[in-house]
Amino acid sequence: MCGIVGYVGSRRAQPILLKGLKRLEYRGYDSAGIAMFTDSGLMVTKCAGKISCLEQLLTGDPADSTHGIAHTRWATHGEPTELNAHPHADEKGEIALVHNGIIENYRTLKEFLLQKGYHIRTETDTEMLVHLIRFNYKGCLTEAVRNALAQVDGTYGIAVMSSMHPGVVVAARMGSPLVIGLGDGEHLVASDVSAMLEHTNKVVYLEDGEIATVTADDYRITTIQNVQITPQIEEVTWTLDQIEKGGYDHFMLKEIHEQPTTLRNAIRGRLNFEEGIPRLNGLNLQYDQLRKIQKVIFTACGTSWHAGLIGKYMIEELARVAVDVEYASEFRYRSPILGKNDIFFAISQSGETTDTLAAMREAKQRGVTVLGIVNVVGSTMARETDGGVYIHAGPEIGVASTKAFTSQVMVLSLIAGLLGRMRQLSPQAGQELIEAMQKIPDQVEKILKSSDQVKKIAEQYYRANNFLYLGRGINYPVALEGALKLKEISYIHAEGYPAAEMKHGPIALIDENMPVVVIALKDPVYDKVMSNIAEVKARNGNVIAIATEGDTEIAERVNHVIYIPETNRFLTPLLSIIPLQLMAYHIAVMRECHVDQPRNLAKSVTVE
Ligand code: G6P
Repeated sequence: MCGIVGYVGSRRAQPILLKGLKRLEYRGYDSAGIAMFTDSGLMVTKCAGKISCLEQLLTGDPADSTHGIAHTRWATHGEPTELNAHPHADEKGEIALVHNGIIENYRTLKEFLLQKGYHIRTETDTEMLVHLIRFNYKGCLTEAVRNALAQVDGTYGIAVMSSMHPGVVVAARMGSPLVIGLGDGEHLVASDVSAMLEHTNKVVYLEDGEIATVTADDYRITTIQNVQITPQIEEVTWTLDQIEKGGYDHFMLKEIHEQPTTLRNAIRGRLNFEEGIPRLNGLNLQYDQLRKIQKVIFTACGTSWHAGLIGKYMIEELARVAVDVEYASEFRYRSPILGKNDIFFAISQSGETTDTLAAMREAKQRGVTVLGIVNVVGSTMARETDGGVYIHAGPEIGVASTKAFTSQVMVLSLIAGLLGRMRQLSPQAGQELIEAMQKIPDQVEKILKSSDQVKKIAEQYYRANNFLYLGRGINYPVALEGALKLKEISYIHAEGYPAAEMKHGPIALIDENMPVVVIALKDPVYDKVMSNIAEVKARNGNVIAIATEGDTEIAERVNHVIYIPETNRFLTPLLSIIPLQLMAYHIAVMRECHVDQPRNLAKSVTVE
């Protein structure tokens, strides 16, 4: 959720921290702050609002300091005000701390601290932590952090500095990601690598329960029990241009247009045409293990959950294996039935979503094989699973997920093809699927050319207050995802529904003010969907149809048609979602919404 950056080295810290914060702004953007070490002690500057506000505050004050920490916030406890923004400092202003996560026992800690005479100034849980560190301080900052954390329940990624320890940043992790960047005579600490890519691609990921003491020339990692850890240095392959807008107005638009490339990356080296069997070595499963699978369980949140739902349609039909798709937040708090031959998949762009991570750990504890479909290499899920498939979509910065979604769906189609071939799919059917997969990137490229047409349709409807999205079969989850995209970035109320279910409720809402987006492709449910369209039209609804190229008949029955090329019916979601992403984007721009950083949302949800 929140973004943390820390720097210690020989260069001016302030520009490095601010630039790093901007790279992390997608994680949270309701308030921001920075603490710098200066000759006269710690200088803390904070503001409500985005990092640009913080920059304005700092321009007149170029602190010449080579050591600092900074934070961009997504509020959990306490409104996004200047006071509640991080860094939080102790009463003497000698220790400053930034925090990502939630201190669950903060009320108990607050009582304890009040009794000890501390004054609590903010509504945040985080403030308790800085006083607790002060309370435990006996000359060594790392020790103070260690002893304070021993009293804490909850999740945290923290960076701490003190005017009593120039040139030292102490970082610790429990549940909220932190990574140390290794530079030449300098080190960085951040919530993710995008904040440090400009300076280094050599990193060390902190594990839960680890504390790092970082100086310009050295870093030392110990556990919370004070056991020394030998760090594992990893090289990041993401490049700087991948995290920049590259001429596009918004990251989301860039990411929508990257999809031909990201989809090619998702299948590269994974298509075995001869045998019609996708190659997914990262699953670490032998063919006979794949044949024994009784049930597949997908858990995920948000857009990733929609991808899982599409995976269910694919796998159940192509492989005849039962698939459960669960919201991760539900899975972890009920008592799911898991068999020893079941396979559990966590689907996550970030690989850090707290609910998905917790569900995954729960499944692991129950002894089932736990796999990941993850984008971010080196993320917690990627490291904690028994195996899995990277989707290789590259960094996704826009809060509304687009390219990660299509890459997840592509990977799910590979898994469905693989399981299918292990069970009932003929080599020819496998080959046909693979051939269709290979054509998808070019077909997406073609659909992207209809962006202007989609924009014209958006112009007619961007003032609407409600939208309905309908689809059937494998395109029902696409309707859900299309509606989610619209509500996330344009704040228009939108609902996705199975087309036939409409008459059991949402039909009551339909009138001339209600645009209805219908995915009506030439597939086995085409005629049924056409009947549903007729029901909408009979009530003066305006229908925007996503249809298969060559279907001229539909144009007479709806208000607008956006065509997509024909493909294998299991792969149609990869194409039908593209116009819906474009439509959400254009509508949000017309409504002057903040496309990349929609209100109240965060890219990576690392709290429950
Ligand atoms: C947040 C994001 C969504 C994303 C969801 C799951 O809500 O705003 O775009 O789909 O988290 O994230 P994950 O990283 O686990 O896919």
